[in-house]
Order: sequence, then structure tokens, then C-alpha cells
Amino acid sequence: MKTLIKNATVILPEESRDVDVVIEAGKITDIAPGHGLAVDDVVDGAGKFLIPGVIDDQVHFREPGLTHKEDIAHASRACAKGGITTFLEMPNTIPHAITQQGIDEKIAIAERNSLVNFGFYIGATPNNVRELKKAKRTPGIKIFIGSSTGNLLVDQQEALEEIFAETTLPITAHCEDESTVRTNAEKYRGSRDIADHSRVRDHQAAIIATRRAVDLANRHQHHFHVLHVSTGAEAEFLAAEASPYVTAEVCVHHLFFNVDDYARLGSRIKMNPSIKNKADNERLWQALLNNEITVVATDHAPHTKEEKFAIYPECPSGLPAVENSLALMLNQVNKGTCTLEQVVGWMCSAPAKVWKIRNKGAIKVGYDADLCLVDLHREHQVLDENQVSKCQWTPWHGEKLRGKAVQTWVHGQVVYKDTENGDYFDPDFRGQPALFGLQDN
Ligand code: DOR
Repeated sequence: MKTLIKNATVILPEESRDVDVVIEAGKITDIAPGHGLAVDDVVDGAGKFLIPGVIDDQVHFREPGLTHKEDIAHASRACAKGGITTFLEMPNTIPHAITQQGIDEKIAIAERNSLVNFGFYIGATPNNVRELKKAKRTPGIKIFIGSSTGNLLVDQQEALEEIFAETTLPITAHCEDESTVRTNAEKYRGSRDIADHSRVRDHQAAIIATRRAVDLANRHQHHFHVLHVSTGAEAEFLAAEASPYVTAEVCVHHLFFNVDDYARLGSRIKMNPSIKNKADNERLWQALLNNEITVVATDHAPHTKEEKFAIYPECPSGLPAVENSLALMLNQVNKGTCTLEQVVGWMCSAPAKVWKIRNKGAIKVGYDADLCLVDLHREHQVLDENQVSKCQWTPWHGEKLRGKAVQTWVHGQVVYKDTENGDYFDPDFRGQPALFGLQDN
């Protein structure tokens, strides 16, 4: 089937233009075709923008093992609604994805249940370097240099040196210094004040661990991607010590929330790394605008309401975000904070480049027809009860946003549409494993 998407403003790699786009057999086959092209279907994008599908390079979809919190069927529908066409998922599922068999099993589950495309990181442990060396069908290696949800801590220097020295896949890490966090936790033991979470997981914990990981990357000349940068100090450091081996990501909650929000939102914004101060929000935005940090992701990490709304410190860290991340950024485009082209850079093309994802992240002939039609004028209110994510709550509950994804294609198939009768999801379509780098996928 040949589809013509006409009248939209298309965000192309070099420029934004009012051109028609043709998709066929899952690929973008023509841009600005001549008149009189015979097609099977026409989509009128008048007044809207066509962008590449968003690639979220940090999510926790909890399957297998933790499906009372979330599962791939729900989370991938939430992705489609949020304009995300490919997700890269973290290994702290049960069992942990720390072997090739674990990766292959997750791919098989996603092939059965996911509405969008996917990839799964392999988790590092202090002694699975042999698995890491031969891993394939994965974007890269995830290290928890600081502990978080799950049991995947690797903070011994010797083990870290071995992983950076012996493996070839890109490495990414959760950077919070374990001993700083433990010392602080001791100091605040017995506290019931949620704001103490940001004192336990403080600025120092983040910057110490990020410096340590960047040092490993530089000495071993190994591509390293810093996950969820949360402090202005890390942003300063990454700018001052820019390295050809290092890329970095910021998550939407670290752009939009700070410690002043604990009074209003409580444990809804308990995250690891913790949210920080208003000055950190501002420096992180600046880092994006300066191109010092190039990727925006979510760290979508749902827990059930019962778990999440328990009193501090029992309430777990993690919040859901895939269905709102693009809309939050589009709202900023409307406010004049950034341009739509910058959002496409941070959420679509940069993650494709960082993870060397084949044929994704741009609207180009021959690329996969993973696309999103955006209405920058569409006003909507984010509500707990409207969330597609299984956990049915969001830290942005009540927020009114302008701009959202109104239609999403994965491999040329319409998987989501914002219709007058509510959300439409394709019930049968399934996404495919993303292909990474030069690996034999
Ligand atoms: O707050 C967090 N929750 N940070 C992480 O790194 C993990 C995540 C989870 O899996 O719940």
C-alpha cells in the first residue's frame, strides 16, 4: 500500500519544508514527489508538522517479572500515543537481562506484545564480562554505578575497568556515587520527609559518579553515554571536558521538576537520581540549547499507586512519562523555550546517532516509515485516569499542555490516532527489533 502524507510541514534533517511524503512497504520512498502520483491512501496534514518518530533511549517496562507495575503491551501503547516509535529498555527486570538468553527472551516477548519498535540493554554485573563481550541484538551495556530499583550495582573499580577495557558495545550508566548516598542515608535515617530524598541522593553523589565514569570512558577510549544528568554541575563538567567518547542525556522530570515541587507532588516525583534545584533545571535547559547534552529521554519507571503513595522512604523511586514527554516538549516550543527542530534533534535524531540505530531518527528516503504527525495547537489536559500506562497515574496530573502527537506510524502502519471518539490503537500490529551499529543483528 502506498500512502501520501500531504500539506504538512516536514522536519527534514537540514530544513523544514512544506513537502509531500510517500511511504510504502514500511519505508519512506519519496519526498516531494511530482504531481499525479497514484496512491492508495492520502493523509491530509494541513496545519500540522511531520516529524520522525521519537526514540526514547531509557525506559523500564517491567516485563518479565514486574508486570504488576507495567508491561510491554500497555507501555508500548503509551509510547504510540506519545509519538514514540522505538524504545530502548533497561535490564532491571526479573530475571535481570544480563545474558544473551535474557535479551533474546525480552525480544521474543516484545515481538508478541509491542505496538512499537524496541531494543533491550544488557545489564553488567561484577562478573558477567564474558556475556557482555559476545552480546548482540542489543544497543549496549547498562551499568548501575549507583544502586537503584533492582540489584544490579557494579561500583568496584576493578570490575568497572574490566568492563570498559574488555567490551566493545557502547556503555551507559546510572551515575550516583554509592558511598556518598550511603553516608547521606545514614544521616537522614528515620526521616519521613520526602524532600530528604534529594539530600540523600545529592548533587555530590551525581557529579562524583559522572566524573568517574567519564574518566573510565576517556582512558579506555570507549563510547559512554551518561544517563539522566540531573545537576548543573554535571552539565558544567560535560561542557568543560567535552570528549569524543562521551554523550549525555537529560530526562523530562529533571527539566520540569525541582525540590520546590515536593510540597505539591510528594512521592510522585521521587526519582533516582533525585530531582534537584531550580538552578539545575535552568542549567540543564541551557546544556540542551548549547548542544552540550544532546538527548532527551524519560526513564519511564512506573510503580503501582499502592507502592508509590506509601510514606517516605518506603515509596519506591520512579515515574511514568512516555505518553507525555513529547507533549511536554511541544508545550515548550509553544512557550518559545526551544524550536520544534531542536526537539526533533534531542528526541529523534540524536538518540538514533548515539545508539547507531539503522534507518531511524530522520525523514529520509530509504529510512523506516516511523513517523509522527504533530498538532502544535492541540490543547489537552494530562489526567491520571487518561493514562494508558498500566500504573494509571502521572506526575503531570492536571497539567494543561498545548501540542501533541495526533497520529503515529510504525513501519508505515498507523498505530495511533487521536480521533473525535478518543484514542485509536491498532490492535494487531507489532513493532520490530531495532538494528544497531554494525552488529550482526
Ligand atoms: O528512579 C528510578 N527508578 N531510577 C532508576 O534508575 C530505576 C528506576 C526503576 O526501575 O524504578
